[in-house]
Parts: sequence; structure tokens; C-alpha cells
Amino acid sequence: MDKILVHGGNSLAGSIKISGSKNSALPILAATLLTREPCTIHRVPDLSDTHYMLQILTHLGAQVERASGIVTVTADKVQSVAPYDVVRKMRASVGVLGPLLGRCKEATVSLPGGCVIGDRPIDLHLKGFEALGAAVRVESGNVKVFAPKLAGAVINLRGKFGPTVLGTDNVMMAAVLAEGTTVIEGAAQEPEVCDLADFLNKMGAKIEGAGTRRIIVEGVSELHGAEHYIIPDRIEAGTFLVAGAIAGTGVTVNRVEPKHLTAITDALSGCGFKIEAKNQSITVSPNGAPKPLEITTEPYPGFPTDMQAQMCALLSTTEGISVITENIFPQRYMHVAELKRMGAEVQMEGATAVIQGVERLTGAPVMASDLRASAALVLAGLKAEGVTEVSRVYHIDRGYEHLDEKLSELGAHIERVKA
Ligand code: EPU
Repeated sequence: MDKILVHGGNSLAGSIKISGSKNSALPILAATLLTREPCTIHRVPDLSDTHYMLQILTHLGAQVERASGIVTVTADKVQSVAPYDVVRKMRASVGVLGPLLGRCKEATVSLPGGCVIGDRPIDLHLKGFEALGAAVRVESGNVKVFAPKLAGAVINLRGKFGPTVLGTDNVMMAAVLAEGTTVIEGAAQEPEVCDLADFLNKMGAKIEGAGTRRIIVEGVSELHGAEHYIIPDRIEAGTFLVAGAIAGTGVTVNRVEPKHLTAITDALSGCGFKIEAKNQSITVSPNGAPKPLEITTEPYPGFPTDMQAQMCALLSTTEGISVITENIFPQRYMHVAELKRMGAEVQMEGATAVIQGVERLTGAPVMASDLRASAALVLAGLKAEGVTEVSRVYHIDRGYEHLDEKLSELGAHIERVKA
């Protein structure tokens, strides 16, 4: 298993280009199952998660071609069963349920287990399918959904932790081929949901309201092939902006959509950093001593849970007391114990982290536990004294395209050690 060694102390400067969004690419690739015709998707990031999704599509019978970020999927014939050994590596595999149900009127997919960021149920996805007329059976670790036909319905997808992103995607993908009109209330408003709706509309679907709490889907009888460019990854961009805040003298992220990053840039401004956004780029630079902050994670357009760990790393070295409350995945704090091993002072009170900023962190061997937690440890290592050795780097490779190389481009002293 590869390791990443971060030699702390170098300052970062310059610019990098942000890749296509992982969390857009995954459901959009799944949506190609909805048509027999070829679909061409551009800016698919080169990540293990997108590779897993392409393996699943291949298993389901699709033909997949991939060359430098451009993926063509032709799902002329599909079968509707995705077993455990095919889907177990990635929770987002559940995103094939909706398109398979829409196209084949049945789907059997192995149930995702829990993961380090929490329980991660799919009850809301299933509630949505049932409202469309499907029967749901959970047996032998699989979930089976089937319906003689799907019919439009009014569905509220809001759960106790707010809207569900993949649940909204899944129900939208099943509803595009249902008879009649489906109204999804309490829909997730994330830009990735809008990107999926844009792609589905290019395929001939009739979806309105994506990006608001109410999405209206007018069912059509079939979809056709389409070409699409994935939106920039706002979480990758946010991660590099936090890297720039932790150790930079002026770091620019290019090829971004600044309006998708408002909650993140507002937080960094609140911390005292200078933020300049124009067209498709954002620059973060120091502007006096950073200030502590209070942040609460919320569904979009609030502060994203996927940036909570990285902010924890930044605030660990920001003088004063900062408070972070995690509202989406209350247990998503696996990075805290590792940051503490680097000298951070963090006290947990339920889903709230109270962070007393310290003057310096020290490098240590640390263990990556999930994607964003791992990124946070790399960011902490940029400022730590000495060497931070991050193991289990496969978590990072699931969701960041060449994180180590891009940080090197900005001047970090970072190396990947093949084990
Ligand atoms: N939830 C339920 N029931 C459900 C579905 C979700 O109770 O049926 C709860 C979850 O347990 C959580 C909340 O609702 O408390 C929100 O979960 P959501 O369904 O929105 O998460 P997701 O769609 O499974 C996506 C991203 C995650 C990101 C979350 C929240 C993808 C592939 N994944 O997951 O991304 O954290 O939305 O924004 O889009 C990451 O990229 O590192 C990552 C974990």
C-alpha cells in the first residue's frame, strides 16, 4: 500500500487546474445505463471510484471506452444484477439502482455496508422507489426493487439529516422513464444534482427545478445518447484553497465555478484570508493573522461536510478557539485522533469539535481513514514540523486526481512511496 510523505515547512504558491467532479461523474456514468445509445462524458476524473463505476457498468453489460478523461458508454443491452464483489468497494454503487429500475423495471444490487463516516442507510432511496410503484425486498445482503411499471408520484425525500444527494439522483433517474409526473419534495440542491439533471435533459428527459427543493420530472418513454462535460470538483477546489490558507503565499485554483464554492470562500474570508474570485478562478492569500471560526456543516448551499476535515486541519493551527459542528454525518471525525497525534488540541462534544489552535503541529505517522480525512492529514502535514507519513493512501486516490503531484506543482515537498 502506497504512503505519502509530507515534509512540512515549504510554502505554496502558484496555480493548479481543478478536475471534473467525482460526485457528479459517478451518478452521470450510472445514468448512461438509461439508454441503448452511446453517451460521451468529458472531464471524467481519473480516480479509483470512477474506475469502480466503469467496472460496474461493464459487469452490467455496457461497453466502455476511456481515453484521457473522455468516457464513452454504450449500454445496448443491460442486465440488472450487481453482486457484492462488484459493488462492495464503493458506496456510490447504489447509484445504479435508479437507472436500472427505470430501464429494466427491476434491479438487484448488493447493499452497501456502513463506512467510517457513519451508518449511511438508503431508506430514503427505497421510499422513493416504492412511491413510484416498485416493490422493495432486502434479502441475503441484496436489495431488489421491481415493478411491472413505474408511475409518477409526489415524494418527500427529506430525512432526519436533511436531503439526500444520491437518493435524489436515484429517484430522479428512475422517474425519468416513469409514466406521468413525479414531484420530488425536499430534494438535494447540490450542484452535482443539477449536473445530473442537465445530462438527463440532454438525453431527452424532462426535468425542471434541479437546484431547488422541488424537482419536477415529466416521464418520457425513452432516452437517447448525449454528450456532456462534468462540472469542476468544488471539494477538490476547496481542499486546495485550504492548502493555500494553511501554507500558501498566494494559491490559485483554476477551472472552478466560484458560485459553487461560496460557503467555503466565505469561511476562509471569515478566517481572515484574502479571497479573489473571477470568472473561473479563485485565489487565496494571507492577510494578517488568521482568526478562529465557528462552522456548522449543512446541505448545499451551506458549508459542505466534505470540507469539514480539511477545515479542522486549518483551524488546528489558527490561534484561538474554533468550533465545528457536523450536522450531516455526526460521526465523521476519524481525522481528529490523528490530528491530535500531530499535536492538535481538539475536544469532542457529541458532533461538535472544539479546537484550541496551537502554534505548531509536528509530523507523525498517521493513518488515513476516509477520503476527506486523509486529505486533511496531508494538509496538516504541509505546516507541521518534520515529516508526516500518511498511510492507506488508497483513500485519497478514490477521490483526488493526483493530489500529491498537484501539491508538488504548488511547491510542497511531498513524495509518494510505493510499498
Ligand atoms: N441518509 C438517510 N437515508 C438515506 C440516505 C441518506 O438517512 O436513505 C442520511 C445520511 O446518513 C446522511 C444524510 O442523510 O446523514 C445525507 O446523506 P446523503 O444521502 O446526502 O449522502 P450520499 O448521497 O450518500 C453524497 C456524497 C458524499 C457527501 C454527501 C453529503 C456522492 C457519491 N457522495 O453522499 O461525498 O458527503 O453526499 O453531501 O455524491 C465524499 O465525496 O467524500 C463523500 C462522502
